[in-house]
Amino acid sequence: MDKIVIEGGHPLAGEIRISGAKNAALPLIAATLLTPGVHTLHNVPDLRDTRTMLLLLETFGVVWEKSGKNTLKINSTNLSGHEASYDLVKTMRASVLVLGPLVARMGRAKVSLPGGCAIGARPINFHTLGLQKLGAEINLEKGYVDVFIDDRLQGDTIYFDIPSVTGTENLLMAAVLAKGTTTIKNAAREPEVGNLIDMLVAMGARIEGRDTARLVVHGVDRLTPADISIIPDRIETGTYLIAVGAAGGEVRLTHCEPSFLPALCEKLKAAGLHLEEEDQSILVRSGTSLQSVDIKTMVYPGFPTDLQAQMMALMTLTDGTSVITETIFENRFMHVAELQRMGAMIKVDGSSAIVRGNSKDEGLHGAQVMATDLRASASLVVAGLAAKGKTEISRIYHLERGYENLVEKLSGVGAKICRKKDI
Ligand code: EPU
Repeated sequence: MDKIVIEGGHPLAGEIRISGAKNAALPLIAATLLTPGVHTLHNVPDLRDTRTMLLLLETFGVVWEKSGKNTLKINSTNLSGHEASYDLVKTMRASVLVLGPLVARMGRAKVSLPGGCAIGARPINFHTLGLQKLGAEINLEKGYVDVFIDDRLQGDTIYFDIPSVTGTENLLMAAVLAKGTTTIKNAAREPEVGNLIDMLVAMGARIEGRDTARLVVHGVDRLTPADISIIPDRIETGTYLIAVGAAGGEVRLTHCEPSFLPALCEKLKAAGLHLEEEDQSILVRSGTSLQSVDIKTMVYPGFPTDLQAQMMALMTLTDGTSVITETIFENRFMHVAELQRMGAMIKVDGSSAIVRGNSKDEGLHGAQVMATDLRASASLVVAGLAAKGKTEISRIYHLERGYENLVEKLSGVGAKICRKKDI
């Protein structure tokens, strides 16, 4: 297994091109299941998770090919299966996104329950309750959720207790081919949901309320294949903005969408970074000193939970105290113990972490650390870029799930980072 080795303390300078969003690519790939024909998706990031989603679709009979570096042609004309096995689902929870489109098109989907994961219990009850509301029957047995309907799904009103991102996406995909009108109340408003709505509309779906918490879907009888681009990855963008804050320097991020990161940009400015947000690019420059800021994760457009760990790493480098509160997932502080191994002073109190910056003491120092989930791993990279000496991060397959060419992109702006065989 490979590890990442970082020699900290080198400021970053240059340009990083941002990739397509993992969390948009996954539902858009799943949406190709809705209708026969050849779909074209552009700006698809080449990641472990996108490859897993394609592997899953292959098990249903989908064939695909690359056309250029990041364009996929996905042909879902002949579907022969409807079962997502535990082997694949356990490696990627987002596999559950095939439920909605498979039931809508084939009247049947059987998906292994994903189980808990490193950031929380993460049930899928909103997905299944929503499908039930649209008339599907649900059986839970032997760790699988089996969803079926004899005829077509029937539109109804669905209310989410919490605005679930993949829940909203799954039910949108189910509702577009249902009979009648479906209203999703308290829907997620993340940009990735908007990207999916754009794809579904391009396929002939009728959806009102994009970017709002109330989505109205008027079911149609048939859809046609889409040709659409994946939006830029706001979490990758945010991770590199934070990395420049930690390592110092000046970097331009290109092919990104600054308006997707309202909360992070304001927090970084308050922390003393200089940001110039332009059309599809952001210039970030570190300031003379880092100020502590408090963070509370919220659904979009609030501060993203997927940037909480990286921001915590940055806050260990201030000379003040920062309170970081996680409200989305109950167990998303696994990075704390690893950051502590690098000298961070962090105390967890329930859903909050109190971070005492130690810039006045000795700062962070390099250590051997272990990646526990995707974003926790990114926080260790951020910390490693700022730490004195060498940081070795093992279990980097987590990073490969969500960051395209991370080592190459950071080396390209002057970071001393490489991948080595972990013997
Ligand atoms: N929830 C339920 N029941 C459900 C669904 C969700 O209780 O049926 C709860 C969750 O446990 C959580 C909250 O609702 O407390 C919100 O979870 P949500 O469903 O929105 O999360 P998700 O759709 O499973 C997506 C991203 C995550 C990201 C979250 C929150 C994808 C593929 N995944 O997950 O991304 O953290 O939204 O923004 O879009 C990542 O990329 O590292 C990642 C974990």
